[in-house]
Amino acid sequence: MRVSTLAIAAVFAAALAGALPAAAADPLRALARTAGIRFGAAVDVEVLGKDAAYTQLLAREFDLVTPENALKFSVVQPERGRFDFTQADALVAFAETHDMQVNGHVLVWHQQLPDWLTQGHFGRDELKTILREHIQTLVTRYRGRVASWDVAAEAVAEDGRLRETFWSRGIGPDYLDLAFRWAHEADPQARLRYNDYGGEGGGAKSDGIYDLMIALRRKGTPIHGVGLQMHLSLQDAPPAREVRINMKRLAALGLETPITEMDVMLPVPASRTRLKKQAALYRDMLQACLAVPQCRSFSTWGVTDRYSWIPEHFPGQGAALLFDTDDRPKPAAGSLGRLLRATASTGRKVSR
Ligand code: XIL
Repeated sequence: MRVSTLAIAAVFAAALAGALPAAAADPLRALARTAGIRFGAAVDVEVLGKDAAYTQLLAREFDLVTPENALKFSVVQPERGRFDFTQADALVAFAETHDMQVNGHVLVWHQQLPDWLTQGHFGRDELKTILREHIQTLVTRYRGRVASWDVAAEAVAEDGRLRETFWSRGIGPDYLDLAFRWAHEADPQARLRYNDYGGEGGGAKSDGIYDLMIALRRKGTPIHGVGLQMHLSLQDAPPAREVRINMKRLAALGLETPITEMDVMLPVPASRTRLKKQAALYRDMLQACLAVPQCRSFSTWGVTDRYSWIPEHFPGQGAALLFDTDDRPKPAAGSLGRLLRATASTGRKVSR
């Protein structure tokens, strides 16, 4: 009686172990390493260290971090000449103790700018001085510790032309070339990127980004990659084949093509059917990445649905990430894990 109870208990335990989520046994970051890429997440530094479950999940599953807001202009330079690196310093220190890379985000962008800047009525020369000081203060501080920077973001409009922004109006279209040169001066080793959404596959915006890259290359701008943000919904996602083709043409210019901010928003509460479709979409995009050697990292915009930016910015939507509001791996985490594991055993199937 006693023996059989034990035996049943053993079988039961084994079955339970088999049913454990893949993430518990095989962290995505470990699987990604064996498949030859890094696995990243945007980090809410206000939560880091305060929420133990969040912090553990981040450390276990990811080996590349991007500050979600900590290095944005309004956060890091809230008053002219006063820099606040409290949050960014904490993230970089965390990354160093957890064998993670850091991607700096973002040096020149038209959002999250402080009022002193947007309402300051600065002339062109003064604006150039302000931007140069901003960029060089940040990049110099983290020289050798932040491996890559999103130097410029969202500079291309939906029609493929240069977007009219605070920066393009104030400095002129060459603000982009200048920003990359200033960043490169401050840390010649850092990988410098342009980062955008909505141009991941084909179309006018994607072509506009491509043309911009050609123009910058011709000028000798020190730029090393184009980040594909990949903020998707089930209805609005580019075909993975187009993403791969787009990555390949950028790679042919000598650029890296990381996926930098993937999430897939769903109407909440999310149905099982939609969670499965979400898993397939995540898998397809990772597969596109794995088919292009210049795609060396895959990042999601957040760690868990508990703190995702989606519900606040897209009311009625959420459930966009790989881990649910209780930090449990979702079908998408499983599908990425399986693809990474398969890739580790067969090698990357690089497409021609
Ligand atoms: C978002 C943050 O996640 C939010 O917390 C913030 O309120 C607004 O910005 N593309 C980007 C990110 O490059 O910087 C944005 O981050 C999301 C879209």
